[in-house]
Amino acid sequence: MVTRRRAGILGVGMALPERILTNADLERIVDTSDEWIVERTGIRERRVAGENESTSDFAIPASQEALNDAGVRPEDLDLVLCATCSGDYPWPATACVVQDALGASRAAAFDLSAACAGFCYGLSVAASLIESGAMRYILLVGADTLTKYVDWSDRRTCILFGDGAGAVILGPCEQSEGVLGSALGCDGAHVRSLYVPAGGTRMPVTEDRLAGRLDKMVMRGGEVFRFAVKIMGEACLRALENSGLTTDEVSLFIPHQANIRIIRAAAERMGLDEGRVFNNVERYGNTSAASVPIALAEAVGGGRIARNDVLVFVGFGAGLTWAANVVRWCRDEPGCGAAP
Ligand code: UT7
Repeated sequence: MVTRRRAGILGVGMALPERILTNADLERIVDTSDEWIVERTGIRERRVAGENESTSDFAIPASQEALNDAGVRPEDLDLVLCATCSGDYPWPATACVVQDALGASRAAAFDLSAACAGFCYGLSVAASLIESGAMRYILLVGADTLTKYVDWSDRRTCILFGDGAGAVILGPCEQSEGVLGSALGCDGAHVRSLYVPAGGTRMPVTEDRLAGRLDKMVMRGGEVFRFAVKIMGEACLRALENSGLTTDEVSLFIPHQANIRIIRAAAERMGLDEGRVFNNVERYGNTSAASVPIALAEAVGGGRIARNDVLVFVGFGAGLTWAANVVRWCRDEPGCGAAP
């Protein structure tokens, strides 16, 4: 029998902007209220990058923390994979900036663009590269500064998003542990449910378009909400099925942190009680591709995860993309840095 290698998460890290924007701050910018935001989203505050800060400014420290946590050296990395839709430049990839800053001189580098589902897409891609034997150590960092694309006069979107980065180091682990299965998908018919009209090759930026704020995000919130509620549970069940597991075996559900109502609906669909659901949306809002790895890093740091625990990650976002992963935790204790 041929046994494939497994890819395990060997280390985690996260980084956030210092500046906190509370709901009270937003009340001074747009016609909204703390009550409305908390009731409809669960968000109380979010972190916002400074004018001179970009996505790599968070991706780099989060990645350094993950490397230290895993006990893996930058020069051991075979790949720097950055899940982002708000890179430092239209091109080249932000992963190249991170690769240089870390001194990961042997590593290939590319960005993966699947919006808020980017980290979960990336975990599947990275795990496959390790399982196939093509690579040994991979840095996967989910990093976004979507507040740069927010129209601060649009109360329907400006209350939702925050900035930051979360990173993991993946490497070979025991056959029974690591990334056990994933499920990925997309409904491309809804590209315009959440998108930035101008700034790409379809609609290059002009003065008129800038004046019309077409370089900022546009969202049909209700459509995205309905999609998310339907797809999150379905995606997780498919990933569990691909892993040969059931919801009863799930130790901790770590969903994309977009809206507490969406998280609760997904958990309910899966029959998961509150004690098995991680959320920190009230402190960071929706940090896009960073939300799942930030939540993971906080869950690890808070002692919520033990060896052998079954974790389920799920993301959804612009595209409309969706992805879920099932991971059996392969480390004995947070910070053990035990690379096999
Ligand atoms: O990673 C994926 C990213 N996107 C998402 O996850 C978004 C998913 N969608 C959502 O989370 C929700 O649809 C929102 C939180 C965006 C909106 O919540 P909702 O319950 O769907 O509200 P709604 O859009 O149906 O709006 C209800 C009312 C409207 O007023 P009228 O037309 O009924 O008079 C809105 O104008 O609430 C109004 N409204 C607000 N009021 C106060 C919309 N935004 C605000 C606001 N403050 N910030």
